[in-house]
Amino acid sequence: MFLSVGRAESLARHERQPRFRPCEGWRVQFRAPPAVTAGDQRRSAAIPAARARQARVRRPEAALARPFLKWAGGKQQIVPELVARAPRAIETYYEPFIGGGAMFFALLADPALAPKRAVLNDLNRDLITVYEVVRDDVDALVARLEALQEPYLAADDEGRSAQFYAERGRQPEGPVDLAARFIFLNKTCFNGLYRVNRQGVFNVPHGKYRAPRILDEPNLRAASAALAGVRLTHVDFEAALAAPRQGDFVYLDPPFEPLSATSSFTGYTEGSFSRTEQRRLKLAVDDLTERGVHVMLSNSTQDYILGLYTANRGPFAGNRYRVDSTPARRAINSRGDKRGPIDELVVLNYPPEDERRELPSGD
Ligand SMILES: C[S@@+](CC[C@H](N)C(=O)[O-])C[C@H]1O[C@@H](n2cnc3c(N)ncnc32)[C@H](O)[C@@H]1O
Repeated sequence: MFLSVGRAESLARHERQPRFRPCEGWRVQFRAPPAVTAGDQRRSAAIPAARARQARVRRPEAALARPFLKWAGGKQQIVPELVARAPRAIETYYEPFIGGGAMFFALLADPALAPKRAVLNDLNRDLITVYEVVRDDVDALVARLEALQEPYLAADDEGRSAQFYAERGRQPEGPVDLAARFIFLNKTCFNGLYRVNRQGVFNVPHGKYRAPRILDEPNLRAASAALAGVRLTHVDFEAALAAPRQGDFVYLDPPFEPLSATSSFTGYTEGSFSRTEQRRLKLAVDDLTERGVHVMLSNSTQDYILGLYTANRGPFAGNRYRVDSTPARRAINSRGDKRGPIDELVVLNYPPEDERRELPSGD
């Protein structure tokens, strides 16, 4: 049961049965593709007010796709809880902080929820290039990853380390090379962490996985099918939120507000995601709410964030937002003992499915 805003401060953890609907086979539910140029597909400037491209016929394997990157703050573990709260009949799905894309792939796996169209965004330019290459050039990517995986798996510790630092230290040549290098480093670096320094240079050390799956070809091909017809952009979230309108669904998973001064991890891009950013995001959520767009947001249960979405003031005072929490596990922390269970805040601006079913008829 969701907590009303008035009760949100208690946020007691409560038992909830997972309501994830397993994939029940795939129904083709997309219209034929429009003529879209390669230039359209790669365009990553601010999203114009124009609608996302028309949905395409998606291949059946799209429903089997899973995230192909390990990503700090990735929602793989709690995604059943999130999917259970997603609205039915999504016109266009927007995910402005796509990261590893756990929610996007989970929605596609459920025929009842799979959106007609999707627009995925992240401020991390290289990450979006990886998505573009998976979508548009998966054969070349597979070949390049194979060439990286073979020597790595055959090498001893020293040889692996040398290959890792050689890859990390060089400039990629073109999008396919960039995507292969990105995936290689993601699978072989410490903890699968993505972190850059102030100059935007990836600086995570080598990890010690015995047999990392650098190339997961079936999943990359499934992800390529899932991304067919999807619009990809790399702009600030505010620009990405200009287009959604009534009937659309936006899932927001910004970098976490740290629970303590020392637990901070916001290094996905050169900049950091400060409280100012969190406030800017809250204003964008208010704006989407006024426009009748369904919004789900996840974040840490830090008091400041909780206060933003439960404050009893402003135009949405009262119970505009449903605030709930769900147990999660932080997978990425340099200290293993700090990777324990932790609650995740979930904010909705629409009634959850259970509650809608309970509404008396005529409402
Ligand atoms: C918590 S992660 C998203 C994780 C994702 N939900 C998943 O399941 O893997 C947050 C993402 O926001 C991106 N980001 C940070 N600042 C941003 C901004 N101002 N606009 C858009 N994306 C941003 C980061 O690059 C990062 O990938």
